[in-house]
Amino acid sequence: MEKGREPLMIRFQKVFKSFSGHMVLNNLSFDIETNTVVSILGPSGIGKTTILRLISGAINPDFGVVEVTGKKIGYIFQDPRLLPWRTARDNVALGLIAEGKPKDESRRIAAGWMKKLDLEGFEDYYPGELSGGMMQRVSIGRALAIEPDILLMDEPFSNLNVELKKTLMTMLESIFEEYQTTVVYVTHDISEAVRISDKILSILPGSVTEEIQPDDFQKLMQNSCIDEYESDLTKKRKKEPMFTKKVTAI
Ligand SMILES: Nc1ncnc2c1ncn2[C@@H]1O[C@H](COP(=O)(O)OP(=O)(O)OP(=O)(O)O)[C@@H](O)[C@H]1O
Ligand SMILES: [Mg+2]
Repeated sequence: MEKGREPLMIRFQKVFKSFSGHMVLNNLSFDIETNTVVSILGPSGIGKTTILRLISGAINPDFGVVEVTGKKIGYIFQDPRLLPWRTARDNVALGLIAEGKPKDESRRIAAGWMKKLDLEGFEDYYPGELSGGMMQRVSIGRALAIEPDILLMDEPFSNLNVELKKTLMTMLESIFEEYQTTVVYVTHDISEAVRISDKILSILPGSVTEEIQPDDFQKLMQNSCIDEYESDLTKKRKKEPMFTKKVTAI
């Protein structure tokens, strides 16, 4: 089936959400089709995490409609949020056990995910004995093990170094190819968004949205969100003043 004609998975229709009188989402509308990977870009405080929390059902809109089709939602946070008293494998198995799967079967499935995420041999380690990247992979395993219909990812790699980020992005890409799932991926990194998504949803002040195709570089460059996400390299180049050193021999 042609993408874009696929059935809807998530629909926000004229959604309003405020906290303590502070309006965060102001008449926000967008659609996400099934089995697409959509990145959400937007400045800090614009309401990206709030959107994910609305999709997950953790909070409700004040007005408007949030429509979500599907049964299971996986949520990957910026920090791994593992249970420190459980082993890595048992952390991955958490969602499965919560679903009512027998412990042995849950642990077997969890071990399979650990292998896929290159964590074989670390099954019995506790979170405190793992590196930051390993902990984040455990949290990815925990979200994927339940085979979610919708996977919500909130800047999952922002605390990791560039090399590790690249490795994990490659891992995720092959997982997304193997398991068809709808992904909503919040990031500040435009290159991550371009690489991973079928569609980019830019949230602008006033909850104005703009849909951008990842290969539409012209639109990406025109979009005001680019100002905030321009690469560090460009920023550095701009900051470093040109100078000519003049050495005079006496
Ligand atoms: N539970 C809450 N109680 C009060 N205010 C909240 C709550 N959750 C979010 N907010 C406010 O809503 C606004 C949007 O927050 P949100 O976390 O959705 O932004 P964001 O786009 O994810 O930002 P960032 O890129 O920094 O993560 C902020 O002003 C925040 O203070
Ligand atoms: Mg956020």
